[in-house]
Amino acid sequence: MSELIAGVKSPELLDYLSRRRSVMARNMIEPGPSQGEIEQMLTIAARVPDHGKLSPFYFKIFQGEDRAKAGELLRHAYLKDEDPNASEAKLQLESERFMRAPTVIVAVSAPKLGKIPEWEQVLCAGAACQNLVIAANALGYGIQWLTEWYSFSPDFASSLGLMGDNEKIAGVFYIGTAAEPPQERARPDINDLIK
Ligand SMILES: Cc1cc2nc3c(=O)[nH]c(=O)nc-3n(C[C@H](O)[C@H](O)[C@H](O)COP(=O)(O)O)c2cc1C
Repeated sequence: MSELIAGVKSPELLDYLSRRRSVMARNMIEPGPSQGEIEQMLTIAARVPDHGKLSPFYFKIFQGEDRAKAGELLRHAYLKDEDPNASEAKLQLESERFMRAPTVIVAVSAPKLGKIPEWEQVLCAGAACQNLVIAANALGYGIQWLTEWYSFSPDFASSLGLMGDNEKIAGVFYIGTAAEPPQERARPDINDLIK
């Protein structure tokens, strides 16, 4: 590994962080990241402050056909947890959610029992999620962090193999090439956030 960085002036990084913007899943096109790039972005995602070195998170990757297979799980989960009377048109729409981007990564918060508080472990998983956003952008891809209804569906969680009540979907990341440059959204006035 190259020399570690504890602090280094980086106008490029500051500029990126000042202007970064999500790309809506519906504005994502091919190409998506290669296997090597996915591995690189997940390695960076996992490189987070982590009390107890627990890595209290893991990832599931959906590409190609696997996105359509996930669609069947979404269809089932929608009927079970959202609306047992949903129309076929609605079910079709819900089953196509993972098709919006070339690569979909589900990040799971998986806190471990022990002396490190669960809250800290959940925050750590959130930090890994934001690292994933930054890494995807740095590799030239657009990304959007969504949860939508299915992240809170017990049926979808169990169909993905999430364990017990403490494992939760922290985010579903839609990754691909931005079809168009994103527009700015309203940003908070930092003076309102310093209390
Ligand atoms: C945990 C989490 C869950 C989110 N879930 C959704 C969602 O379900 N739907 C949505 O429209 N945006 C959701 N967002 C917001 C999107 O990521 C959105 O693209 C983002 O806020 C845009 O801001 P940015 O350009 O600063 O990234 C979520 C954000 C976070 C952190």
